[in-house]
Amino acid sequence: MDENSPQRAAEIIAAANSICVSTGAGMSKESGIDTFRGEDGLWSRFNVEELATPEAFQRDAVKVWAWYRDRRRNLLTIQPHVGHRLLAEWETRVPTFNVITQNIDGLHHRAGSQNVIELHGRLDVARCTYCDYSVQGLDDLGEDPACPVCAKRLRPGVVWFGEPLPAGAIESAFASAQSCDVFLLIGTSGVVQPAASLGDAAKSLGARVVEINPNTTELSYLADVSVRATCSEALTAIEEAWRRIES
Ligand code: APR
Repeated sequence: MDENSPQRAAEIIAAANSICVSTGAGMSKESGIDTFRGEDGLWSRFNVEELATPEAFQRDAVKVWAWYRDRRRNLLTIQPHVGHRLLAEWETRVPTFNVITQNIDGLHHRAGSQNVIELHGRLDVARCTYCDYSVQGLDDLGEDPACPVCAKRLRPGVVWFGEPLPAGAIESAFASAQSCDVFLLIGTSGVVQPAASLGDAAKSLGARVVEINPNTTELSYLADVSVRATCSEALTAIEEAWRRIES
């Protein structure tokens, strides 16, 4: 980590009236949830075509459910980390503060964030493939759960590749990105649309961009400041610098 980058990021954040945060899988890595890409990512071990598309579910719902049951079971053992908690606290210190996440783990809410837009659904939700029924929670639903209302098949409450995002989510996300004065990009490789376009939308309307990621990404060109560290390290260092600025 360039020792000066947290200070420069804190100066930008401390002066902000409206902050829009965009988080990806790297935000939850230190809580024990694997990222998707990179050599130890989920997609290097699992076949996305067989597990994360509506066609895969059509072909073999039991196989798809088995994978999501494992991830739901794992979520029972997971806690938000200091980075999640700091973002929740910053929400109380900045006039407008929104978190837009591609993560399906619900950790921002669990850390106390209120203004959260979940673009890719939630792992702790199952919904009917036919009627409006849905259930939230991490109880094990069995290998091929059926809807208690219409007996049709239940599916994981997440967005699979090729599926539309939850109604209104992307509109709210772009509205937040286009009205912020600081855009904080945390732990995303910036390769999945439409989330990967939020930074451009913010920058094109004058927002300052701060990136937090140990590695460079497809979106690093947008950054006014890049903090090359894990998000818990970077957010903690920025918090300390911000406190010094305010003291
Ligand atoms: N702190 C911050 N960033 C980290 C950390 C960490 N501790 N560890 C890894 N990263 C960074 C990596 O350098 C990488 O740039 O997090 C990023 C994770 O990238 P991806 O695995 O591609 O995750 P993400 O960008 O969220 O993927 C987007 O793709 O597979 C789909 O639906 C899935 O929501 C997901 C979407």
